[in-house]
Amino acid sequence: MELIEAIEKRMSVRSYKPEPVPREVLEQVLTIASRAPSSVNSQPWEFAVIGGEVLEKIGRANIEKLRAGEMPKPDYDAGETPRQTVYHRRRVDLAKQIFNLMDITREDRAKRQDWVERGFRFFDAPAVIIIMMDEMLPLASPLLDLGSVMQTICLAAMEFGLGTCIEDQGIQYTDVIREYAGIPESKRMIIAIAIGYPDWDFSANRLASERAPLAETTSWYGL
Ligand SMILES: Cc1cc2nc3c(=O)[nH]c(=O)nc-3n(C[C@H](O)[C@H](O)[C@H](O)COP(=O)(O)O)c2cc1C
Repeated sequence: MELIEAIEKRMSVRSYKPEPVPREVLEQVLTIASRAPSSVNSQPWEFAVIGGEVLEKIGRANIEKLRAGEMPKPDYDAGETPRQTVYHRRRVDLAKQIFNLMDITREDRAKRQDWVERGFRFFDAPAVIIIMMDEMLPLASPLLDLGSVMQTICLAAMEFGLGTCIEDQGIQYTDVIREYAGIPESKRMIIAIAIGYPDWDFSANRLASERAPLAETTSWYGL
């Protein structure tokens, strides 16, 4: 796939076929994506690749905690989007678009809950890649590096017919993941990527998310 085509076609895939992704394919994706740049080539990322029964158990335990109303304990808290801002409006617009496609009304609590649960069970993807960094590292600079490998994974995956959804929902209950996958306390889980073969019949996988025009995001100086 051509680079620009891949960048333009990448999208968050929120439903997958049950077909597992061969480990060799995931290895290739991660090997390619590890070419991502990082500050002083420090490559501060570490990957936990989870699938099969372990992932099923994590998904089930996540949902139990969610239903019990347990407070999330993320290793990395992305914080709240400030209200009454353009960022919040974009967030609301995205939710509206998804709920429209999924035929979920404002009042339909059951369907809304079901939607949230999907995220906590990694959208039923056959595998998930958790991007982590060691606790000895300061948070700020490696975060940029982890972001660059995150996007590169999503793009590389497309070459293998795979879809992805970057998500933080599934790693809110870090104790669950530590328990079932055995991830040590010394590794901070920063972001997850659900990965698998997309179910293109699923309504929300038809979402074409919007982008602000350059006029809203770009200032030009001396040009
Ligand atoms: C850091 C980060 C965290 C995200 N977390 C979630 C999430 O928890 N659940 C979800 O459905 N999508 C999540 N997304 C996906 C975004 O909603 C998505 O990238 C955005 O709406 C643009 O849509 P696109 O990926 O289809 O282009 C996340 C994306 C990023 C970069």
